[in-house]
Amino acid sequence: MNASPHTVAALPTERRSGCPFDPPAELLDARAHGPISRYTHPGGKPGWMVTGYDAVRSVLADPRFSSRKDLMNVVDFALPPAPPGEFLLMDEPDHSRYRKPLVGKFTVRRMRMLTERIERITADCLDAMEETGPPTDLVTAFAKPIPTIVICEILGVPYEDRASFQEQIDMFMGGEVSDEELIAAYTATQEYLARLVAAKRAHPTDDILSELTDSDLTDEELKGISLILLAAGFDTTANMLSLGTFALLSHPDQLAALRADPALTDGAVEELLRYLTVAKTFHRTALEDVELGGRTITAGTTVVLSYHTANRDPGRFADPHALDLGRQAGGHLAFSHGIHQCLGQQLARVEMRVAFRALLDRFPTLRLAVPASEVALRPESADIFGVKSLPVAWDAR
Ligand code: HEM
Repeated sequence: MNASPHTVAALPTERRSGCPFDPPAELLDARAHGPISRYTHPGGKPGWMVTGYDAVRSVLADPRFSSRKDLMNVVDFALPPAPPGEFLLMDEPDHSRYRKPLVGKFTVRRMRMLTERIERITADCLDAMEETGPPTDLVTAFAKPIPTIVICEILGVPYEDRASFQEQIDMFMGGEVSDEELIAAYTATQEYLARLVAAKRAHPTDDILSELTDSDLTDEELKGISLILLAAGFDTTANMLSLGTFALLSHPDQLAALRADPALTDGAVEELLRYLTVAKTFHRTALEDVELGGRTITAGTTVVLSYHTANRDPGRFADPHALDLGRQAGGHLAFSHGIHQCLGQQLARVEMRVAFRALLDRFPTLRLAVPASEVALRPESADIFGVKSLPVAWDAR
């Protein structure tokens, strides 16, 4: 048996000052000790923290690890199963029953068709920014509206409902709100989606949700699927756009290279995904005893997978803490791996490629409007990492 394992006492609450893009020091330190460390879940249950690239990837590919919410062993009471349609927290065969009908709707070809629409949405946001003039908050002017409108297109949210729908999801997915406001916004979103599903069933329109009504999925299941698309697709993309812009503005040499060579855009998006890994950690629970990194994870134990730390593993990526837009970042875990690998990844890529390119082309002098140290970051406890706001300025034409 190996020496006693390294321990991560608790999920770190902060990043090192001056390093807004790096995983917390405790997690980098844990990875340096080995791919897996002892860890106690906030609810007091013993678990493991997996930080090595190969170890995280092997858990994600291993059917002996479950994503089921009701099997998660992190608190001393039983968690309920995921609601119908919320397949992110399900195993096979339930997971496939929901994911399969969606796969054909998120192909590269289909997403290319959406490109034109995304270009229009992005241009509208940039026009509005130019009209208002600097300084502006890039989160509200650019990073949030683009994925929100894209999700509205996919779900076929009618134009007259968009403003109130956007307000609701903004509150429930990342706003600085009280618990009461959060519950109210979540309930309102659920109720709205239930009405939307009923409307699409009665009068289908040209969108993915309407197409899904032509299947054996119930209204309740369609509501769950809509909610998961919204929850998985909005906050992640919005934070990649805002934190990604912050990262680019903080690395002038990389920014200059990207400005100079549009052919670098696709690779730059992959590298930003790796470097920032905004969807930082996910859980899996062992269904039987599993050997991993020289340790035994006993059946019923829940592990935390740190995708962010794994994406900074020097065994997989040379000089991992450098933002290097020219590197081959493929194989990163920012979209996960295995059966739950991000369903919307092609869509997210199109959004990011179009949006970053258009932003840089429109504003050649884009810069932070405050010192980098004053950019307000989300707390490390947030599910998705990012900035609360990003004040930017440019030389008006
Ligand atoms: C840059 C933006 C995005 C990032 C970083 C991201 C990241 C992820 C990750 C890490 C997972 C897997 C979680 C796990 O391992 O348990 C996931 C799953 C998922 N994502 Fe994304 N995502 C993004 C954008 C989107 C978009 C735009 C959509 C759709 C509109 C979407 C829909 C989904 C869905 C439905 C799942 C569940 C897949 C399954 O369980 O089979 N995501 N995403």
